[in-house]
Amino acid sequence: MKLNIAVLPGDGIGPEVTNQSIKVLNAIAEKFNHQFTYKHALMGAIAIDETGEPLPQKTLDICLDSDAILFGAIGDPKYDNNPNAKVRPEQGLLALRKALNLYTNIRPVKAYDALLDKSPLKEQIIKGADMVIYRELTSGIYFGKKYLSEDGTKASDDCAYTEEEISRITHEAFKAAEKRNNKVTLVDKANVLETSRLWRKVVSNIAKEYPSVELDFLFVDNAAMQMILNPKQFDVILTENMFGDIISDEASVIGGSIGLLASASTGNDKALFEPIHGSYPQAKGKGIANPIASILSSAMLLDHFGLTEEADVIREASEKSIELGICTPDLIPNSTYTTTNVGEFIEEYITNINELSLNS
Ligand code: IPM
Ligand code: MN
Repeated sequence: MKLNIAVLPGDGIGPEVTNQSIKVLNAIAEKFNHQFTYKHALMGAIAIDETGEPLPQKTLDICLDSDAILFGAIGDPKYDNNPNAKVRPEQGLLALRKALNLYTNIRPVKAYDALLDKSPLKEQIIKGADMVIYRELTSGIYFGKKYLSEDGTKASDDCAYTEEEISRITHEAFKAAEKRNNKVTLVDKANVLETSRLWRKVVSNIAKEYPSVELDFLFVDNAAMQMILNPKQFDVILTENMFGDIISDEASVIGGSIGLLASASTGNDKALFEPIHGSYPQAKGKGIANPIASILSSAMLLDHFGLTEEADVIREASEKSIELGICTPDLIPNSTYTTTNVGEFIEEYITNINELSLNS
């Protein structure tokens, strides 16, 4: 298969982890006879530094012209504590999600057996946890009208949803549940928010079209508690933009590190793949960033094009590195294995994998 991949390394540790992903994708291309080509483009703080804009038109054009986008991370501390900043790196990612209509954000979370003792949560709570979060990505409070009064003493952000915006991701979540464990949990705040009540109505109606899937509801505050009390109860979590942002970081604790969580953002046409972690500026250039979230995002990219066997090989290689303790310090304190060491282990594992075992 030929794939033309736009690579947006972004800020902080983004370039380091994305480089490991490209090594791994190249190993897959070599092993399975695919042709992957890459076009690099700027986004985020680095794009603001060089062009004044977080998402330059040239970057958008490269993305529009690609089959898929591999994205690193976004954000720079120089913007975080500056309420007066006129442009922010994050606007680049939000504008890209919107421009490409990437309304379904898919975030798988699972507890790896080899890491059960790495999570601050008790082993018996997380062992066997395996869920996927379907987060709506192009609407809600992130994209509602923003207001700041002239004297700077009043601000507001609108949260709005249409039936259509809810319905399209809901179908995706139910289809995913049919292939998994037949359960969808809608996370909302329907006891307070009008938008959440619309979500409940739309989702309940759509559920009738998927009779094998059980639907239940949780208020987001309770969901945050259930996530660490009993994460095994979840299969597919369906939720709006901001709730999904928050509970997916929380869910990463189950896996032992946010450095392991991958994501896919899909719409009707384009798809973008990115680790859910941020730009971790304190780690930039130190070789301590975990590349596995980015590498597993590349596996999701391959899944998206039906290259499931290839994606499985990446997952197997990543799990092997974890099992063997070839891990960055987020997983093993004081580990001397670097970002590159982990990437190269996974790359070599794929290169050396026995052809016979591939077909078995
Ligand atoms: C994420 C990130 C982004 C978000 C930021 C960088 C805008 O936290 O992808 O989860 O809030 O969606
Ligand atoms: Mn987030």
